[in-house]
Amino acid sequence: MKVFVTGGTGAVGSHAVPALVRAGHSVTALARTPEKAATLRAQGATPVTVSLFDRAGLAKEFTGHDAVVNLATAQPSITQFLRASAWRETTRIRTKGSATVVDAALDAGVGRLVQESVAMLYPDRGDRWIDESVPVDPYPIARGNLAAEASARRFTEAGGGGVVLRFGLFYGPGARHSEQMLGLARHHVCTAIGPPGSYTPLIHMADAGAAVAHALDVPAGTYNVVDDEPLTTRDSAAALETAAGARAWLRVPGKAALLFGNRVASLTRSLRVSNARFRDATAWAPRYPSAREGWAATASALRG
Ligand SMILES: NC(=O)c1ccc[n+]([C@@H]2O[C@H](COP(=O)([O-])OP(=O)(O)OC[C@H]3O[C@@H](n4cnc5c(N)ncnc54)[C@H](OP(=O)(O)O)[C@@H]3O)[C@@H](O)[C@H]2O)c1
Repeated sequence: MKVFVTGGTGAVGSHAVPALVRAGHSVTALARTPEKAATLRAQGATPVTVSLFDRAGLAKEFTGHDAVVNLATAQPSITQFLRASAWRETTRIRTKGSATVVDAALDAGVGRLVQESVAMLYPDRGDRWIDESVPVDPYPIARGNLAAEASARRFTEAGGGGVVLRFGLFYGPGARHSEQMLGLARHHVCTAIGPPGSYTPLIHMADAGAAVAHALDVPAGTYNVVDDEPLTTRDSAAALETAAGARAWLRVPGKAALLFGNRVASLTRSLRVSNARFRDATAWAPRYPSAREGWAATASALRG
């Protein structure tokens, strides 16, 4: 297939573009700087420069492609989560940007659209499993993700095949917060956000990138892309400690994170999210079935 990727130069994109190339696709990707264009070229993709907000420019570049994958985001780092202004750009990209990508893809006659979203849209369900049939909870900072999902649905309603991938929290080498968390853990400070028994949906970025390549031929719809075994905050912290090789003297912020309310809702809710639908629809299987294996591999890659 001929695939156009936006956001292909980001943390997840840097896994998704090589995964698409390895799968035999011809990949074009948006580059905003000459340095990023050179990286894309080295990965076997063809870089083009065009604005995410320019419908006519995008439609011209999309023409002749079978699929568009939209991974563009300007997600703030976890330390910036509390600042409402830190979300402004990512919300603009996910509302206006995603809508423009869909308009342009329809104008260009592209048949398939893959839109990145997050699994942290579901309500807290304690230790009950969550699949795609559970209705999302529209809390304020999720506005951008919900708008991007609505754009993908609009693509399907207009006759295309729109696929939404609800990724778990990214971690792995290249994810800023993972590197910060491992650094702190080596100094005996373990990041454990929310109550000890609550579940966090995670996905190693290499597995997220691989999932993008598998999403090109699934039936239109929404899919959770998370690892096989969501861990509780307690078990996730233990996996991080083991990977860092240092016993935690302090686990922060723990339950105190609840005091920050909606701004950190995506991190404090108990979300035991299942990937069964995506696994049933594809041959994808996460290389890191849980954060136990994933944190160990991340620590070893960063040490290397
Ligand atoms: N969901 C989560 O798990 C979560 C939570 C907290 C933090 N994070 C952090 O967010 C990052 C997640 O990785 P990611 O790949 O989603 O994000 P990312 O690494 O920030 O990449 C974003 C992509 O979107 C592109 N982009 C940004 N603004 C754009 C614009 N105006 N027009 C066109 N393209 C634009 C970027 O281009 P350029 O390369 O040119 O900038 C890049 O390709 C990680 O660093 C992670 O630590 C993730």
